[in-house]
Amino acid sequence: MQKNNQDILILGIESSCDETAASVVKNGREVLSNVVFSQIDIHKLYGGVVPEIASRNHIQVVDEVVKLALDEAGVTLSDINAIAVTYGAGLVGALLVGVSFAKGLAQASGLPLIAVNHIEGHICANYITYPDLQPPYMCLLTSGGHTAVVKVEDFDKYTVLASTVDDAVGEAFDKVARVLKLPYPGGPHVDKLAKTGSPNYKFHSVVISNGNFSYSGLKTAVINTVHNAVQKGETINPADIACSFNHCAIDGLIDTLKLHTQKSGLNTVAVAGGVGANSYLRERMKEFELDGIRVCLPQLNLCGDNAAMIASRGYFMYLNGEFGDLSLNACPTLKLRGEKPHS
Ligand code: KG4
Ligand code: ZN
Repeated sequence: MQKNNQDILILGIESSCDETAASVVKNGREVLSNVVFSQIDIHKLYGGVVPEIASRNHIQVVDEVVKLALDEAGVTLSDINAIAVTYGAGLVGALLVGVSFAKGLAQASGLPLIAVNHIEGHICANYITYPDLQPPYMCLLTSGGHTAVVKVEDFDKYTVLASTVDDAVGEAFDKVARVLKLPYPGGPHVDKLAKTGSPNYKFHSVVISNGNFSYSGLKTAVINTVHNAVQKGETINPADIACSFNHCAIDGLIDTLKLHTQKSGLNTVAVAGGVGANSYLRERMKEFELDGIRVCLPQLNLCGDNAAMIASRGYFMYLNGEFGDLSLNACPTLKLRGEKPHS
C-alpha cells in the first residue's frame, strides 16, 4: 500500500444490524479494503433479524473481520490514523459490539476514536463512488430505518426537507415481501419479482398532505389486498402486486425529490441507503439528467450496510477534529444532524 505522509487512513467498523463490516479507506474516498460478513443466512430462518442472535454473531466475527480488513488493505494498525465506528442508529446490542470493540482497539493502540452516525455514513457512500462530489446537493435517503429527502449543505450540515411519519420505505419492502412469501430481506426479491409484473393495482400515494411520507398505509393496503383475495378464494398475481407496490413506494420519493430539487436550484442529486439498490428507483433517478442535473447512484455494494461508508464519514470528522472518547455509548434512535421529530 502506497501511503504519503499527508494521506489519512481510517479504519471503519460497522455492526448496527445484521452485517459485521470493517474497511480501510484512504482520504475519505479510496477504498483499500471492504469486508462485509453478512448474517442474512442465519436470520432468513426466522423471517427477519433476531436482535439477540445478531449481537452474538457480531461478537464471534468482529475481530476476524477487522483483521481481514487490515490485511486486505496491506496495512497494520500503525498505518491507521483513526478508528471510526457506527454508534447509532440501529439495534442496541448489535451497535454495542462494534462500539466496545472499537473502544478497546483505540485504547490499546492509542488511536483516536470517531463516533459515526450510520445514516450520515450512508450519504458518504456517494463520496467513494464519485470522488469529485462536493456538497451542496440533494440526497434521497432510503434505508430499512430511514426515509427522507435531505439537502446536504456541507459535509456535516443537513436539512431534512421531507421524511416518513411512520415506517421506513425498506421496512415496507420487507413486510410486503413477507405477505408475498418471499425470503428475507425482502427488498431485492420484491424488486426482482416486480420486473415480471405490471402496475395493475392502484394504491394511494405515500406522499401525505404536509409533503412528508407515510408507508404504513401502503403496507397495510398491500397486505389487505392479498388477504381479501385469499379469503374470497380469488387468485392474485404476486408479480403485479410487487410491481404496483414497487412503483407506488418509489414514485412518491422521486416526485418529492424533484419538487425540492427544483425549489433549491441545486444541480446534483444523490441516493443513499439499501433501497438505493432498487432497479426501478435507479431507472427513475435518470429522469433528472433530462433537466441537466447530475445523478449520483452509489455502486451497489455501497448501498447496503458496509464499513467503507463509515470510514469515509470518519475521515471528514477527522478533518474537523470531531473525536469521541471511551465514554462512547450506543445510541439506537440517533437522528440525522438537523432532523427534527414529527410533531
Ligand atoms: O441501508 P440498509 O442496508 O440498512 C439500514 O440501514 O436499514 O437497508 C436495508 C433495506 C432493507 O429493508 C432491504 O429490504 C432494502 O434495504 N433493500 C431493497 C433492495 N435492496 C435492499 N429494497 C428495494 N429494492 C432493493 N433492490
Ligand atoms: Zn444502513
